[in-house]
Amino acid sequence: MSSGANDVTSKTTKMDMPTVISTLENPKSQIALVMYRHAKDEEKKIAWTSNPRDTALLHRTWTEDFETLYTIGSNIFHKLFAGPNGAACKSLYPWIAKYEESGRDYVETNDFRVLCLRLVQTVAIFLDEIGEKAKVEVFLYKLGQRHVDYLPRDTKEEFLDMLRDATHEGFNERVHSLSELTEEERDRAIQLWTDSVDYIFNMVKEGFFDGLKSFDRFPGIEKWALVQYLVPSPEYHPTIPENHF
Ligand code: HEM
Repeated sequence: MSSGANDVTSKTTKMDMPTVISTLENPKSQIALVMYRHAKDEEKKIAWTSNPRDTALLHRTWTEDFETLYTIGSNIFHKLFAGPNGAACKSLYPWIAKYEESGRDYVETNDFRVLCLRLVQTVAIFLDEIGEKAKVEVFLYKLGQRHVDYLPRDTKEEFLDMLRDATHEGFNERVHSLSELTEEERDRAIQLWTDSVDYIFNMVKEGFFDGLKSFDRFPGIEKWALVQYLVPSPEYHPTIPENHF
């Protein structure tokens, strides 16, 4: 492992020794992105500090084009629903069955479009705020907490992991489709996106599973903190039938 993470490792205790999973190409450079997993098996969180060069590469390999974002998102959900546990994953979105029962193709509906876009919108907010770790953490954690209202209480972690894995695949394909990248940039971008997606999902999961135990790590901060996408009102509950069809 590179010594590029020295600034981070020096802040950790022996009990909490990180394994560096994404390090500097040039350890002496100021433009370091360091992500590391805590070695504690039960707590595989990723922490990060951003640096300008890696952040620029993430921005370069991202897009603000709505249709491209939709394509990335829909590709991810098509993979998820076509997988071995696709039917179980679909059942977590009850509106899909309602469309199917009424003979409509759910892929052609606005609800599916929203489903795809909100995943990539979350990533866009992560990227916008990447320099502000505390903000990103609260945003993702609170998003996870809101999922207590959306998902059955017995939702298994595996389902979130399946969506995460489909997201990894979707993002890898996206990076591979960018012909202007050098091989080195492509490899780096894939590593950075893999770590970023892991970080995002870990924070959402932590918020969700804490929420199931009625625990909130940020009790003073309201639950819609930092949301930048449109919601009809703070009381909005997207699972109620009126919000679909
Ligand atoms: C298997 C995992 C997940 C399932 C089954 C799930 C399901 C849902 C459901 C049922 C809703 C309510 C809206 C609706 O009924 O369509 C919702 C809202 C939402 N989900 Fe998820 N979700 C999952 C993971 C995630 C992850 C990992 C992210 C982001 C990275 C995310 C982002 C959102 C956003 C942005 C909303 C809009 C409402 C809000 O901001 O609170 N979801 N999700």
